[in-house]
Amino acid sequence: MDLVYRLDKVSYSYGASKALDEVSFSVSRGGSLAILGSNGSGKSTLLKIMNGLIFPSAGTIEFAGATLDESGLTGGLLRCFRERVGFVFSEPDVQLFCPTVFDELAFGPLQLELSEKEVKERVHELLDMLGISALSERPPYTLSTGEKKKVAIASVLSTNPDVLLMDEPTNGLDPRTQVWLFELLRELKTLEKTCVMATHDLSLAEDLADRAIVLDETHGKAADGAISDVLRDRDMLLKANIIHEHSHRHGHVVHSHTHSPFASHDEHLPFLKER
Ligand SMILES: Nc1ncnc2c1ncn2[C@@H]1O[C@H](COP(=O)(O)OP(=O)(O)OP(=O)(O)O)[C@@H](O)[C@H]1O
Ligand SMILES: [Mg+2]
Repeated sequence: MDLVYRLDKVSYSYGASKALDEVSFSVSRGGSLAILGSNGSGKSTLLKIMNGLIFPSAGTIEFAGATLDESGLTGGLLRCFRERVGFVFSEPDVQLFCPTVFDELAFGPLQLELSEKEVKERVHELLDMLGISALSERPPYTLSTGEKKKVAIASVLSTNPDVLLMDEPTNGLDPRTQVWLFELLRELKTLEKTCVMATHDLSLAEDLADRAIVLDETHGKAADGAISDVLRDRDMLLKANIIHEHSHRHGHVVHSHTHSPFASHDEHLPFLKER
């Protein structure tokens, strides 16, 4: 099997605070992996490691057989890695830095040394596909969160990476744009792209991923398997705080119907009633 990533007992700490504890798994080419876990379980940290932004405190990570560490991810490997791997951050503000949307989408293709004509064509195709041509000359910081997210996704797609790492891809998107993203990801899957997404959206995970790993609240791996098996394991999902007591299933999907947080919390927060 053609492995894109292989992680072996990867741990990571921010100073004294542990974020990942001996997490091992692998991702094969064309695979689609969902990373599930409660807030603070380590999903974003794991994606940053897979994107070579930070390196494991212990354990190893390999990309296409090459070790990603401070000394390894330089020169030729770094260039090849950056060309092949695209990362959509959960906060689009972190990602956008050019004066206009057009420049943002042209930035990656220009690095690939395409001609000016090819770059323009590619940018216009992306703007068209995303239905954001009208935003082309706008500075990204003036856009709404969802518009920024679309531009961030488009900028990642602009270099045609074959591995896509996405942190909470549907966050901040309206229902129609979520469906659009969903269709796009489905299409990318048919093109044999490898997708890894961290998400709290179990329906998205069920529909798009073929595998899932679950991080628990001790930052270790609580499950790793076919998405349908992982989503069926109600006890494990409850324990890892991915669903809660009021959740139930429709078919294979576990839906969580949260009761209003204020129903119980306002008893403990009397100042909320002070007006
Ligand atoms: N820059 C940082 N400095 C210190 N601690 C951090 C930093 N970033 C994350 N952490 C801690 O590491 C742990 C894992 O955080 P991470 O952001 O990876 O979680 P997550 O699973 O992505 O959560 P969420 O669902 O809220 O996005 C948390 O305990 C968090 O507080
Ligand atoms: Mg996160």
